[in-house]
Amino acid sequence: MASHSPSDLLPSLLAGVIVYPQEDWSPQIRTQVEEHLRCLARELRCVISLARRGAAEAGVVLDLSTNGGVADPLAWDARVHELESDSVFELGVRLSSPALELEAFDALLRRYQRLLPLPAHVPSPELARVLALHRSLHDLTLPLVRADYDHALDTWRWLLWLAPRADFALQCAALFHDVERLESEPLQRTEHLAPDYVSFKRAHARRGAELVGAHLSTLGLPADDLREIQRLVSHHERPDADPRLQLLNDADGLSFFSLNGYGYLRYFGPAVTRDKIRYTSARLSPRTRVLVRALPLHPRVRELLDAEVNTLDPPRDGPAAWR
Ligand SMILES: [Fe+2]
Ligand SMILES: [Fe+2]
Repeated sequence: MASHSPSDLLPSLLAGVIVYPQEDWSPQIRTQVEEHLRCLARELRCVISLARRGAAEAGVVLDLSTNGGVADPLAWDARVHELESDSVFELGVRLSSPALELEAFDALLRRYQRLLPLPAHVPSPELARVLALHRSLHDLTLPLVRADYDHALDTWRWLLWLAPRADFALQCAALFHDVERLESEPLQRTEHLAPDYVSFKRAHARRGAELVGAHLSTLGLPADDLREIQRLVSHHERPDADPRLQLLNDADGLSFFSLNGYGYLRYFGPAVTRDKIRYTSARLSPRTRVLVRALPLHPRVRELLDAEVNTLDPPRDGPAAWR
């Protein structure tokens, strides 16, 4: 497995996003798109520019034209993963009809939020060492391990979005919360075969705590941090009154819906995905359930989520209470 130095891992990979408009957009549509891109760039702290007419296209352009169909995020992944192996890159995106494609564009940027710049206060030498160790555990040539790696980084980024000042132990727990899957499910998933899903997931969390302890003890972290990381990982599969555990559950669930949901559906089919959506929703705080419904989800995942919505608790506060 290739080794990665800490300095490779901390800079953002996505230097910016270039959106290529169609020639026939009216000035009014162009203004609307520009405003949308400005809001999104602020929200996700990234550089998004609308290309000038006739500008040369970036090396790789993702085509979000839906032509009445639905954009396929798994096809985007294959191309983005190719770029990731290089280093910093600019992503080109071609939109044809803004009304349809801006939502797909939002989903695209959420999907790759792990590649966006980190808030300036987050990087530290300790975190760089943890990220390097975390990366070294993943053989990215295995599709399920690749999915777990992306999910770990994405959960970490959701945690930082929910709690920008999340401490080191919480960030490590987000990165390693599913480390047990590297041992039990690197080649095929077995969770749908478990006779008791809840017990299966609790055993996964307990074993994950043992593994994260073994891995991180090689870095000489403070004993208090290590204990806290293990505590968080060992309880991450259940809702909890502890706000730190709830944050971890919320970040994990947000990542499931925004990044993994569609791949999960393709792998397991609708019946298992419906159960997973119910299980994951039950782990979320009421506020995060509201947020999930506002995310740009894949239409088939949204359909299944909508079918479950009536089983969710009504939130006490509205979306405006977020952040
Ligand atoms: Fe888990
Ligand atoms: Fe997870």
